[in-house]
Amino acid sequence: MKKRYWLVASFWAGMTLLVACESKKAESTQASSDSLKIEQTAFGKISDSTQATLYTLKNANGMEVKISDFGGTIVSWTAPNKDGKYEDITLGCDSLAGYQKGVPYFGALIGRYGNRIAKGQFTLEGKTYTLAKNNGANALHGGLKGFDKVLWTATPIAGEEPALKLTYTAKDGEEGYPGSLSIEVTYTLTKDNSLKIDYKATTDKATVVNLTNHAYFNLKGGLNSDILDHEVTLNADKFLPVDNTLIPTGELRPVAGTPFDFTKPFKIGARINDTKDEQIKFGLGYDHCWVLSDSSSNLKLAATVTEPSSGRVLEVFTTEPAIQFYTGNFLDGTITGKGGTIYKHRFGLCLETQHYPDSPNQAKFPTTVLKPGQTYQTSTVYKFSVKK
Ligand code: BGC
Repeated sequence: MKKRYWLVASFWAGMTLLVACESKKAESTQASSDSLKIEQTAFGKISDSTQATLYTLKNANGMEVKISDFGGTIVSWTAPNKDGKYEDITLGCDSLAGYQKGVPYFGALIGRYGNRIAKGQFTLEGKTYTLAKNNGANALHGGLKGFDKVLWTATPIAGEEPALKLTYTAKDGEEGYPGSLSIEVTYTLTKDNSLKIDYKATTDKATVVNLTNHAYFNLKGGLNSDILDHEVTLNADKFLPVDNTLIPTGELRPVAGTPFDFTKPFKIGARINDTKDEQIKFGLGYDHCWVLSDSSSNLKLAATVTEPSSGRVLEVFTTEPAIQFYTGNFLDGTITGKGGTIYKHRFGLCLETQHYPDSPNQAKFPTTVLKPGQTYQTSTVYKFSVKK
């Protein structure tokens, strides 16, 4: 018993030493204050021999983002309101145990294929691949054990703009997908209160890839109210209508004249219950993919969210062609999150930058196929500011 305690202690002492070394290196190359060191704390046990760790990225303004190597999960994220008060604006759990109980992807990295693939099946280069059906008849967010439930290898990079590099190699056949896929995701907290997420992947066999992050935002502060008063703008003049299992029908429908028109700011609550619209009925609110008007792979503004009472503004920039806007319609008060808060209906909203859902089965959609020799590379920036 005594011996085991000593082993664990020396493991954590080793970790501390590592952090100290990393920070020293950064200090010698740039002026980074001690307070900007990347703190590491134990987050919970995955198994007898594996621990999850929580990394805290801080910038000089006071923004703090806590990320775990379990699922590459953003566990908390503070942003200032109009009085300069920093408060947590993402739904999540206090420790690993909460995530292990099964939460709907709070803050997690999603892959190998974010969003739905119809009937959990697709054909690539003449071969049909079968995935787990974990969402009715369909496959959702990478399967039963997607990238949100694996332990990533983390490398903290201290500095004025601290970063956390996460790597993971998914096996050929993992969750039914072909090809061994090497993924690298880097979270960087910038001086201007943005969190930049850079995704990269390579494969040894043709496969499909659609990576994203599934943070649930509530900009009001407190994480204890719905998001219906948040005002949203989406730079998208079309969206993808879905069937009653949320698979795109293939149509790119103009948003004009529908509750899906967010080309100008609208309160989420204004039209979310407009069930005369079949698409609102199918989504139980908003749970759809918007096609960005700028279809280039430049980093462009995709979405803006403003919460009037706190003054918080979130802008989402992406190189991706589309964004899934989900309004927490499946949150039903059965999950207790951070600080004992019960997450009720529509307490969080997601802005998941991505390629279109079900692309592996829809030849007219932009391709999500990745071949050996190619590099999958996308970036998304979530930037906070205030409107007084
Ligand atoms: C999907 C929702 C789903 C949620 C949590 C979103 O990306 O669009 O339908 O309920 O993830 O799984």
